[in-house]
Amino acid sequence: MPTPTDPHSTHPVIEFRDVEKHFGDKTVLKDLNFSVERGERVTLIGPSGSGKTTILRLVMTLEELSAGYIYIDGQPLAYEQRNGKRMPVSSREQKKIRTRIGMVFQQFNLFPNMTVMQNITEAPIHVLGKSKDEATARARELLEQVGVPDKADAHPTQLSGGQQQRVAIARALAMDPEILLLDEVTSALDPEVVGDVLQVLRDVAENTNVTMLIVTHEMSFARDVSHRVMMFDGGKVVESNDPETIFTNPSNERTRQFLSAVLRDS
Ligand SMILES: Nc1ncnc2c1ncn2[C@@H]1O[C@H](COP(=O)(O)OP(=O)(O)O)[C@@H](O)[C@H]1O
Ligand SMILES: [Mg+2]
Repeated sequence: MPTPTDPHSTHPVIEFRDVEKHFGDKTVLKDLNFSVERGERVTLIGPSGSGKTTILRLVMTLEELSAGYIYIDGQPLAYEQRNGKRMPVSSREQKKIRTRIGMVFQQFNLFPNMTVMQNITEAPIHVLGKSKDEATARARELLEQVGVPDKADAHPTQLSGGQQQRVAIARALAMDPEILLLDEVTSALDPEVVGDVLQVLRDVAENTNVTMLIVTHEMSFARDVSHRVMMFDGGKVVESNDPETIFTNPSNERTRQFLSAVLRDS
């Protein structure tokens, strides 16, 4: 059994196998199969309401998996096969795996009652068991890295959207995640700060080997940072290829339509 951080692990870092997700009687994901390799940066594109956020929330264990399996480094995340039966993974095991995954949300989702410093150090202290001094020192480095070194004592409401999102990125990175999930992280921002926040993420992509699963409508960002783009529609991956091919010569008609609509709007 490979250890979680085993760089020689032959398993994909993320694997969806026959995943289904229903909300009530509405099927959002059906027979969804894909995998993401270690260090790979994959962007998920597709129409609004197609289930992109749901995919990320499933990886983050924020949604219940209706059917199928998700594996992180080969370890079952929510359900596993035991004696030919589909059985839930213990919540203790689930929590352990989840500490290796960070997520940045469209709406920042900072804890409003905590300072920036508390937002960033809370999980490293309480989940990873870091000392307060160590967590604080790392948080200061990260605040510097994301470009808001002077905001440690501020509360989220005192920050602009762009600043809040920088803090949210720092908070995710403070857990040293193996996997970083980004859900339309610039969609709620004023246009003039979008480029700066994306630059922070471009630097993360360039300077770390964190695996990224990205949902974005920023196509030039997607093109620059992704190793692979997956077009997703009707609950399934309809096309998966390198960004150059997807953006210049998509093979799927649905991808072609989607991209021409998105590129026309931007
Ligand atoms: N908690 C929920 N309850 C019911 N329906 C939901 C819930 N979350 C998402 N959905 C539905 O699932 C579909 C996929 O949503 P979502 O994953 O947010 O799509 P996307 O991120 O691609 O826009 C949508 O039809 C949405 O209305
Ligand atoms: Mg979404």
